[in-house]
Amino acid sequence: MKRIVRTEGAFLFDEEAHAVLDAISSWWVITHGHRHPLIMDAIRNASETYDQIIFAEYTHEPAEELAKGLVAIAPLGLDHVFYSDSGSTAVEVALKMALGFFHNSGAPRSRIVVMEHGYHGDTVGTMSAGERGVFNAAYQSLLFAVDRLPFPSTGREQETLDAFETYCQDGEVAALLIEPLVLGAGGMRVYPASLLAELKAIAARHGALLIADEVMTGWGRTGTLFACEQANVTPDILCTSKGLTGGSLPLAATLCTAEIFAAHLSSDRTRTFFHSSSYTANPIACAAALANLAVWQTEPVSERIGRLESMHRARLARFETDLRFANVRQTGTIVALDLNAPASGYLSDVGPKLRAFFKAKDLLIRPLGNVIYLMPPYCVTADDLDRAYDAIDEAADMFGGGGVR
Ligand SMILES: Cc1ncc(COP(=O)(O)O)c(C=O)c1O
Repeated sequence: MKRIVRTEGAFLFDEEAHAVLDAISSWWVITHGHRHPLIMDAIRNASETYDQIIFAEYTHEPAEELAKGLVAIAPLGLDHVFYSDSGSTAVEVALKMALGFFHNSGAPRSRIVVMEHGYHGDTVGTMSAGERGVFNAAYQSLLFAVDRLPFPSTGREQETLDAFETYCQDGEVAALLIEPLVLGAGGMRVYPASLLAELKAIAARHGALLIADEVMTGWGRTGTLFACEQANVTPDILCTSKGLTGGSLPLAATLCTAEIFAAHLSSDRTRTFFHSSSYTANPIACAAALANLAVWQTEPVSERIGRLESMHRARLARFETDLRFANVRQTGTIVALDLNAPASGYLSDVGPKLRAFFKAKDLLIRPLGNVIYLMPPYCVTADDLDRAYDAIDEAADMFGGGGVR
């Protein structure tokens, strides 16, 4: 374990004053860089006025302003915001909203469709929707059944679409829950925006809802503010967390359409959307998120993202025909490549070996098994990236072995 005593920009500083490059944005939360001054100021200022305020029958300005701000920048048609505190809870809320919508509309539906290799969190509902495996084997008896679409690998997209069409036939599908464009924890697997648009069209044709889990893909990671924008799709429900506060404080929001909101709004209390948690809409976290919106509005964030995309592209090119790697890929600011190692898969010992190798070089890079990926904050410099790419090159010589250069 390394004890971190300070963070700044793209770096974590440990107690021996080593600067560790945070090449995975501390599990994908830090967008602009650690301790962005505007966000830190907002947190300090909000803490002069607020701590936690019950968010039932009482409200407060940071939550109201943030909800307005989110509706203004989200895909058109997502008019309502429900707060919670993590990516997992944002998705749990979305699943409950979807089933509640059909229940309250008098035509209940019971099925959730997901994509193979998906990850949506570690609560019981989100584990049910995620890929089954070693991570949740012990809890299997608690998990509910979902229908799974095959992952749309290149050339097999039609299989995914056909499977969804088939699942929808009996009118029982409440929602398709999906990570748009990139499946994160499932191995940074990428698929085209056109497929997302086609899935949305099938859902719409069958009256099923589309839930976009943008917990990882949101806030510029894929090149646009939300990944759904690239497919020109407005999901019925959108989940966001991680970069919502620029990564500074835990907060999540689940956005939905007016129709879903209306299905729960009634003087009949049995129709209530029953979900609450003590720290819902924490004012200081909302103030941090408002400051994040201000950063997006006042600083050249899109330009920074564009520059990072180009810096990645230029450096990734050297691995494209490198037989030590397979599936060299990039979506926006996210790059990934599979190391051709003697044993692959999340539990192969190449993962921990790579991690230790990078850590010894003061690089925070945590491969998913043999999948090496980079997802740095947008303030990362060309020199920082060079260090990361050179280390990947060196690691392939040390731990690869599936191919010859
Ligand atoms: C796509 C996606 N959904 C949900 C989650 C869960 O978020 P949290 O860890 O904040 O509960 C994650 C976390 O990595 C994620 O990548």
